[in-house]
Amino acid sequence: MRLTVEKACELLAEAQKAFPTDALTRHCKAVGDTAAVIAKGIGLEDPEYARALGYVHDIGKCVDPTTPIKHDIDGFYYLQEKGIDEQDAFICLTQSFINGDYTCQAGGIPEKHPLRCEVLQAHEYNMYEHIINLCDLMCLFNTMTVEKRLIDLLTRKGIHENTHYHLMETLKLKKKIEDLLGHDLYDLFPDIEI
Ligand SMILES: [Fe+2]
Repeated sequence: MRLTVEKACELLAEAQKAFPTDALTRHCKAVGDTAAVIAKGIGLEDPEYARALGYVHDIGKCVDPTTPIKHDIDGFYYLQEKGIDEQDAFICLTQSFINGDYTCQAGGIPEKHPLRCEVLQAHEYNMYEHIINLCDLMCLFNTMTVEKRLIDLLTRKGIHENTHYHLMETLKLKKKIEDLLGHDLYDLFPDIEI
């Protein structure tokens, strides 16, 4: 079935039970709500679909809460086990990596896996998936600037061999979205601190 906001909320509430705090829900809601604003700003036909994807993008963390290092792979399978279409389940894979490159993520290069390599490389990102990538890099529990979020990630995850590459690709992604918007990204979010 195609993912809807209603179904995403249901799945997120179920996944949240695996955790002692509501951090997963707060982060996923922030990403989804930010994504809906950007999708609407660009003029995509279904901003609510962007919201739904954001709500489940990190859902794989519930599969093994103690070692969320595989949450991309776990989420891809988890959503399909719950009856969600493969295309929608791809959000769990794409959200971790910019442009389908498994080496382009915050916090260092993960272990190779066929889903992260061959499968992801063969998957062409749609605009909703690009937006979720950007929103994950704009949100912890609230919408913030990309620059602040990058500092948050750097201070918590450290500097790794791919850090410069990831930073540069993040800024390119922000520029790509701004070119589509035709204005500064932060014009959509008057309440965030620049
Ligand atoms: Fe996330």
